[in-house]
Amino acid sequence: MNEISELRKRYLVLINSADTDSALEDVRIKALGKKGEIALKMRELGKMNMEQRQAQGPVLNALKEEINNLIKTQKDNIEGQLLDSRVASEWMDISCSTRLSGGGSVHPVTQVTEEVIAIFSSLGFKVADGPQVESDYYNFDALNIPPEHPARQEFDTFYISGDEDDQTPSNVLRTHTSPVQIRHMQQVNGPCRIIAPGRVFRSDYDQTHTPMFHQVEGLAIDTDISMANLKWVLEEFCRAFFEVETVQLRFRSSHFPFTEPSAEVDIRCSWVDNQLKIGEGNDWMEILGSGMVHPKVLEAVGLDSDKYQGFAFGVGIDRIAMLKYGIPDLRSFFDSDLRWLRHFGFSGNDYPALHSGLSKF
Ligand code: PHE
Repeated sequence: MNEISELRKRYLVLINSADTDSALEDVRIKALGKKGEIALKMRELGKMNMEQRQAQGPVLNALKEEINNLIKTQKDNIEGQLLDSRVASEWMDISCSTRLSGGGSVHPVTQVTEEVIAIFSSLGFKVADGPQVESDYYNFDALNIPPEHPARQEFDTFYISGDEDDQTPSNVLRTHTSPVQIRHMQQVNGPCRIIAPGRVFRSDYDQTHTPMFHQVEGLAIDTDISMANLKWVLEEFCRAFFEVETVQLRFRSSHFPFTEPSAEVDIRCSWVDNQLKIGEGNDWMEILGSGMVHPKVLEAVGLDSDKYQGFAFGVGIDRIAMLKYGIPDLRSFFDSDLRWLRHFGFSGNDYPALHSGLSKF
């Protein structure tokens, strides 16, 4: 009996002082393993007489259970301490301010392009694309601007010349997005409605001109399209884009070789305290060129001009960005001045959509 209480005491100490899982496991094997001290004691029961066995048996069993329980409790303690020390060493101060992201902003040209796409998409127009380095043919000839045409001079074209003895026709940096009309009509050879936003290039530089700027071309071809459709589409676009209930557009007779009749479109506006207001007032601001696609252009792409007709327009993206967001100097768009970009830039979350800001029709 004494011996067993001795054993018990010894193991109480051993278990309590085991401070790792593996030390505890050693203690467990030493006590309860096959060759452990308790097992040996159990084996001794066999040599005892009935009386002794009946007395010793339950005591040993109780000890076995007690030691088992103590080991379990100690195991929990060790795990608890481990967790405590991890919590103490791995904590994180979530009240700390986050690292300054210095994040970029969305350039007004990108923002306005997305706005234009959102609006025309809702009117059933798809987005088309074309190369910025264009052939003479697509930029001029196919658009009814033959080599001797004076309009070629007006465009201040950047020519890309090959080697001196290179006989291939020269390429140009496209001076407008109109060549995308040609490429697209060649592709679909029938009815279509597209817009084509992109970069264009002209050798010109002042407060309202930069050698590279952006346009969005519009084109709708079908068998029953009239100038009235053009007017409606442009009015709907302006209303949504400038986010004003009423817009008034003025179609001024004009001339482009690739449209007939042609019209430049002005929007009613006013200047109040040096601030431009779109939609009301006594001033007019030119915003785009447009017209009915010239029969010669239709024929250049193999469309029957007796059957098909359509409208086209070209809007200066930077120009309408300046108007909508009150940006005074076009050149600043392309200076990459961080202060300007932070001021006029948009948050990436500010994704334009008709249901989130752009006015509904
Ligand atoms: N391409 C013309 C320009 O750059 C604009 C335009 C496009 C006019 C389509 C009429 C039709 O000035």
